[in-house]
Amino acid sequence: MKLVTAIIKPFKLDDVREALSEVGVQGITVTEVKGFGRQKGHTELYRGAEYVVDFLPKIKLEIAIDDDKVDGVIDAVTGAAATGKIGDGKIFVSSLEQVIRIRTGETGVEAV
Ligand SMILES: Nc1ncnc2c1ncn2[C@@H]1O[C@H](COP(=O)(O)OP(=O)(O)OP(=O)(O)O)[C@@H](O)[C@H]1O
Ligand SMILES: [Mg+2]
Repeated sequence: MKLVTAIIKPFKLDDVREALSEVGVQGITVTEVKGFGRQKGHTELYRGAEYVVDFLPKIKLEIAIDDDKVDGVIDAVTGAAATGKIGDGKIFVSSLEQVIRIRTGETGVEAV
């Protein structure tokens, strides 16, 4: 199992959710976050030379999936979240050791 963590532009959330439901994702956790990437969120020069480091609002999606769905999820997020401009976001894929469905006690892939 894998945990896919995607950071996207907030206005892309609906598009990404739709794309994900088409590739068989069973659940998504969404969090409003702030962050910066390589441009450090700056939009202008400050006092001549120094860049102001600023955190920009982003949306974090967490999706637990079986290994065979990872490529589909990455394609769905990439396709729906891309604008081609800086700050489009990033996708992190980690190994997921265990999942437990609280109501039924199911574990592993059955619980996803
Ligand atoms: N290395 C990182 N570690 C943790 N979070 C990151 C990292 N890079 C980006 N992020 C998160 O992703 C968000 C979007 O990053 P962003 O798309 O600007 O990355 P980038 O590498 O600067 O790419 P681009 O040049 O397309 O802007 C950031 O605001 C931050 O929340
Ligand atoms: Mg950036």
